[in-house]
Amino acid sequence: MQVKAPRGTYDILPPDSSKWHYLEKILRETAALFGYREIRTPVFEHTELFERGVGESTDIVNKEMYTFIDKSERSLTLRPEGTASCARALVEHSLYNGLLPVKWYYIGPMFRYDRPETGRFRQFHQFGVEAFGSNSPYIDAEVIILLVEILNKLGLKNYELHLNSVGCSVCRKEYREKLISYITPVKDRLCPDCRSRYQKNPLRVLDCKNEACHQAIAGYPTIYDSLCDECREHYASVRKALDDNGVSYKHDDNLVRGLDYYTNTAFEVHIPGIGAQSAVGGGGRYNGLVKECGGPDVPGIGFALGMERLLLALDNFDDLNKRMTDVFVAVMEGQYEDIGVKILTDLRRAGIRADKDYTGKSPKAQMKYADKLGAKLVILLGEDEVKNRFLTVRNMKTKEQVKVGHDEIIDFIKRELEVS
Ligand code: HAM
Repeated sequence: MQVKAPRGTYDILPPDSSKWHYLEKILRETAALFGYREIRTPVFEHTELFERGVGESTDIVNKEMYTFIDKSERSLTLRPEGTASCARALVEHSLYNGLLPVKWYYIGPMFRYDRPETGRFRQFHQFGVEAFGSNSPYIDAEVIILLVEILNKLGLKNYELHLNSVGCSVCRKEYREKLISYITPVKDRLCPDCRSRYQKNPLRVLDCKNEACHQAIAGYPTIYDSLCDECREHYASVRKALDDNGVSYKHDDNLVRGLDYYTNTAFEVHIPGIGAQSAVGGGGRYNGLVKECGGPDVPGIGFALGMERLLLALDNFDDLNKRMTDVFVAVMEGQYEDIGVKILTDLRRAGIRADKDYTGKSPKAQMKYADKLGAKLVILLGEDEVKNRFLTVRNMKTKEQVKVGHDEIIDFIKRELEVS
């Protein structure tokens, strides 16, 4: 019987893997530009980390975790997100005692037992950043500017940035009570999910996708109106910093995010047109998380982008995909294979992307293959070339052919590639 990849997972094959390289390059370069350095954490953690960090009333912890008992009877979970692991690592290595803020980024697979559809997988990839140790509204702005900069560099223009403040532990507590009192009389009109969770987590009713829930709670008190002075000021400063730096956003009263650790600033980026799962990224401040992970009271803020969704939004990869090599060495007669391989090695050692055929293709088929690989130049090696000690270089675009001496070939190819 044939064994297939598990539902919600997939293989990344060439040429698609080039898209990933391209995306990862932009993500890493932009993070470095803003002073964020890479952290790599384990793919599985103690289940308790996510229960405590992400929160027991969240969908992630309740329904979506890949949890298993290992051979020593420990409960472990494949990470559903990266923030809790970063907070754990900060505490474990006592980095809160060092130079602050600590600014990290990560790239890697995450796992959620979600219903697979376009843009939603069970193993997916996130790029995330986390900044620990500053409560300044300007670092909130920095993180959001970094997110927007990434989208700009990728050439994504039609994104929508939604922003809200979910308050601190004090004002949110009051707001929760207010919201529960508002919802209780209309609870029977809510969807089954909201009906069962509104007592524990009333804020989730605000971002329920079900239209009936929205109608039932129309006119609800907003969290913005319940913010304490400090939270209101913080939010105003974040907004001003974004305005000052030319970042457009929309204040969104319904934005509450699906993870429990958020405090104050919360944001999400949507790209309409990539399907029902239009949220390409989201994040916010989480001032209580480090303490929850056993550390001191250290604030934090960050975001994560869904890489599959970013790739869905990008459709300008054709050129990139086609060009798998720059130079193709076409050996016209089998007995000269050894010379062809030597030229190939010289090219590669000189840092030139080069390739050849290894399946005995005819000269005509080799030219077709070179074209398929996207080669700009083909080095032809036949009897005439070997006997008279030169090489023929064909420009695949102009179809021009020139004779070049063996000793000059590397310099010649480099010059040609520069102008092409
Ligand atoms: P999140 O909103 O749960 O936040 O996930 C961030 C992004 O990951 C989403 O916007 C989406 O693009 C992508 N994503 C989530 N689930 C899936 C899935 N099943 N398939 C494909 N893509 C998915 C977090 O994970 C927080 N840790 C973000 C954060 C960092 N907050 C502060 N720091």
